[in-house]
Amino acid sequence: MKQTILVTGGAGFIGSHLCEALLTAGHTVVCVDNLFCGSKKNIVTCLKNKNFTFIKHDVREPFVTKIKFTRIYNLACPASPVNYQKDPVATIETSFLGMHNMLKLAQKTGARVLQASTSEIYGDPLEHPQRETYWGNVNPIGIRACYDEGKRAAETLCFDYHREKKVEIRVVRIFNTYGPRMAVNDGRVVSNFIVQALRGAPITIYGAGDQTRSFQYVDDLVRGMMLFMEKARVTGPVNMGNPNEFTMKQLAEKVVKLTSSKSAITFRALPGDDPKRRKPDISVAKKMLGWEPKVMVDEGLVKTIAYFKKVV
Ligand SMILES: NC(=O)c1ccc[n+]([C@@H]2O[C@H](COP(=O)([O-])OP(=O)(O)OC[C@H]3O[C@@H](n4cnc5c(N)ncnc54)[C@H](O)[C@@H]3O)[C@@H](O)[C@H]2O)c1
Repeated sequence: MKQTILVTGGAGFIGSHLCEALLTAGHTVVCVDNLFCGSKKNIVTCLKNKNFTFIKHDVREPFVTKIKFTRIYNLACPASPVNYQKDPVATIETSFLGMHNMLKLAQKTGARVLQASTSEIYGDPLEHPQRETYWGNVNPIGIRACYDEGKRAAETLCFDYHREKKVEIRVVRIFNTYGPRMAVNDGRVVSNFIVQALRGAPITIYGAGDQTRSFQYVDDLVRGMMLFMEKARVTGPVNMGNPNEFTMKQLAEKVVKLTSSKSAITFRALPGDDPKRRKPDISVAKKMLGWEPKVMVDEGLVKTIAYFKKVV
């Protein structure tokens, strides 16, 4: 069925890919973004589509509209530490107030809401790999808390709106995702390494480089979110990520190889509260949605490197 869909944060990295995929599926899409860290450049293709509208709006404010949305994807929130630590108060407000405004809108229009939550709600995990049943290990007063705790509170709000006001919710916990249109300077590890390698600059690893992450290509995530949104009678939370785990050192070496770079690898001090290990258990997504990632890291990196070659 064709839907009328609101995507908040649609001018960001993941949001722009989601808007494109929803348009390709024939839906009508309204993208709301305050361009805090997104860009209209990310949605140039979408803007040519008659079924696409961009509205500059801050989700911390109520979104007053007569449009009868049937689906809301809530992605608005700075996602990289560099961006979410620029204005931590705005970050936690965006998570909580943005979520609240979208749930109120959903209650009014009968829309189903998907919240882009995060593996960061597991903090520095004491359980490995992380399952949805794990409650997490987050420092509530640290420098990452504006993001982690904001997302945790947003999940709470979703489930309370669901239980109390019967709003239909879908909560996806997204693990590290990469791909074309990541911002050049927002400090995320994949884009950082690629940009440094392409510029021939030293590749900076924080800590000894033995901390791990699992990297998911953006197309896999978008496919998963759309499947989850349309699945009947589920709420989540559901982990979405690629369970293949790499150390930062291994990732740096891969990037150097794939870019044929002459960059040397250098080591810097680890920032506060950096999680040591991250790996999703995706058995719930597999069982419930028949979903698992298809794009392996080398293939995804090649596509991402091709994008960055055009922009740096
Ligand atoms: N990329 C990842 O690895 C990852 C992992 C876990 C969760 N997520 C979540 O997915 C979502 C999208 O992430 P992304 O990587 O595309 O990040 P991004 O920073 O590229 O995109 C976020 C978008 O939200 C917009 N935004 C920020 N504050 C806003 C506000 N107050 N009002 C309206 N728009 C606002 C930004 O301008 C930007 O376009 C975020 O909610 C993020 O927390 C991403």
